[in-house]
Amino acid sequence: MTNSLSIEQQARAAKAYILQELRKTDLGVEILNDADLFARLDMNFITVFAIFAELYGYRHDCLDQLVDLITMCGKSWLERDSELKKLDKAREMDPDWYLSNQMLGGVCYVDRYAKNLAGIKAKIPYFKELGLTYLHLMPLFKSPKPLNDGGYAVSSYREVDEELGTLQDLKDLATELRKVGISLVVDLVFNHTSNEHAWAKKAAAGDPEHSAMYWIFPDRNVPSAFERNTREIFPDDHPGSFIQLPDGRYVWSTFYHFQWDLNYSNPTVFRAMAAEMLYLANIGIDFFRMDAVAFMWKQMNTDCENLPEVHKLLRAFNALCRIAAPSVLFKSEAIVHPDFVVQYIDRYECQLSYNPLQMALTWEALATRDASMLTQAMERRHNIARGCAWVNYVRSHDDIGWTFSDEDALELGKQGGNHRKFLNAFFVNRHPGSFARGVPFQDNPRTGDCRISGTTASLAGLESGQDGALERILLAYSIAMSSGGIPLIYLGDEVGQLNDYSYLNDQSKMDDSRWVNRPWYPEQRYKERHDRNTIPGRIYAGLKHLIHLRKTTEEIAGGRAVGFYTGNSAILGYQRQGPNSTLLCLCNFADEPQWIGRERFQGLPESAHDLVTDSQINLKDAGIHLRAHQYLWLRH
Ligand code: GLC
Repeated sequence: MTNSLSIEQQARAAKAYILQELRKTDLGVEILNDADLFARLDMNFITVFAIFAELYGYRHDCLDQLVDLITMCGKSWLERDSELKKLDKAREMDPDWYLSNQMLGGVCYVDRYAKNLAGIKAKIPYFKELGLTYLHLMPLFKSPKPLNDGGYAVSSYREVDEELGTLQDLKDLATELRKVGISLVVDLVFNHTSNEHAWAKKAAAGDPEHSAMYWIFPDRNVPSAFERNTREIFPDDHPGSFIQLPDGRYVWSTFYHFQWDLNYSNPTVFRAMAAEMLYLANIGIDFFRMDAVAFMWKQMNTDCENLPEVHKLLRAFNALCRIAAPSVLFKSEAIVHPDFVVQYIDRYECQLSYNPLQMALTWEALATRDASMLTQAMERRHNIARGCAWVNYVRSHDDIGWTFSDEDALELGKQGGNHRKFLNAFFVNRHPGSFARGVPFQDNPRTGDCRISGTTASLAGLESGQDGALERILLAYSIAMSSGGIPLIYLGDEVGQLNDYSYLNDQSKMDDSRWVNRPWYPEQRYKERHDRNTIPGRIYAGLKHLIHLRKTTEEIAGGRAVGFYTGNSAILGYQRQGPNSTLLCLCNFADEPQWIGRERFQGLPESAHDLVTDSQINLKDAGIHLRAHQYLWLRH
């Protein structure tokens, strides 16, 4: 491609070429004759072209690769189910549908929660009872046995793990969920495949085309040069970023040795993964959780994380969805420094993102009984692009890492490294008086890095039997439920599920402590959920109440939370602006009652309605008292 022309001129020329190529085949003509498709193609072409030209323009076959990509994309749309096309239309008319306060997410492992896909289908009545509108099923595709990183080592994106069901079962499940208003979310694990994926097997056998789909080098020279700047992600598994193949070559594997990083500097990889993505979109997936996005592009002399090209790749993938599966949305999984997390959040990139900072700082505040860092994060780091939303969670299937910014912490007098050490010690019960029962994850004495694993209930003190555990669980969830975006419940948390140490007896899991927080379905706890004399019953009732409040409080829909300084470091404050009123949320992280002076409420009305207790609260008399771990949602 020549670059003496402007990008618009180049795009116009490329489009003319592509149209001419399409006219040569029956499929191409069919694509051109679909007016809706053509309009979307027209609108998104410049994005796809510009990115493709920038990343792959040096290749002599770049334009032909683009013809193939557009043809694949058009074909995918033509094959899309009419029901899904109806949904595409409906969501086009209501583009902010996912920002609604009706949205509520749940996440689980298919096998652990319900044995298989049929079991998940049988649980739909429960999902409705809870109020879910979004269900994230953890990786369920074919993967190596027994080691597969909880399914994040994918051997085929088009085959469901046979123990869980078939692709048809997944499609049927998506249809059933759609009927009851629940969107289906699955991972798009596209940074890497398993070493048993057909591409990887051919690469391992020495096939040059497939070797070029991964980062494979004949000796240690280039790998060692890269490793001067890369971070060790799973040091318990292997040091550095590469592992050696039996034939002596080295392959990039950021995570486990059986997960090989794909090489997106090769357009074949881009096209291949785009095809897998659109294939899954046509099964009826509503949201893709874009796994491990930070690592997708590698560049010598950088740490190979969050590089600008990653954003280009995501934008190009997004544009392909806009063309061929327009209702499908992306959620980024970037558990990195907050400066980088926000860079993925954009209507044209990932419309949703996990909010790892809010999650981690909720635990930080529970440990320190000090909400300063969380308040600062709400004020400073909550604002994201319009039309986008955080996914607010209390914990996930993964470990908790303390991803706050050291500069932010320093402003509050906390030294990042020491504070992380304290938090790790606190949450693995190596700190006097800790209520938490977590387990260290990837404890790396060489770098001092460590993260922690544990279920919400065990981290909050239910396992250690300490006072305030229930209140801490509900306090944490009250923040996820009221700070906007989509709250996500790790299913089992709503009945206070504890750590499961049985992973220590399983050879294939004992070295990965995250399994402690991926327990099996807690049958007995679910049975007790309607009995308020039981612990599960009390937690369930509390959470159901929060869900009810969320769904009836329009101020919570979409948008940003704005920090509210309470003047009391134990009390977190934030506001949510609704169309007719404002919601002021206050949360006491201390183990004893706390107070906010009335001067803090200057400019606010005399009294406000607390939605949590359904009572009127006077703001101007003597200020406000909050019980230990109490939260108020004040409408004014
Ligand atoms: C994501 C997943 C994690 C997995 C990793 C590698 O971070 O959440 O469970 O180990 O990606 O795929």
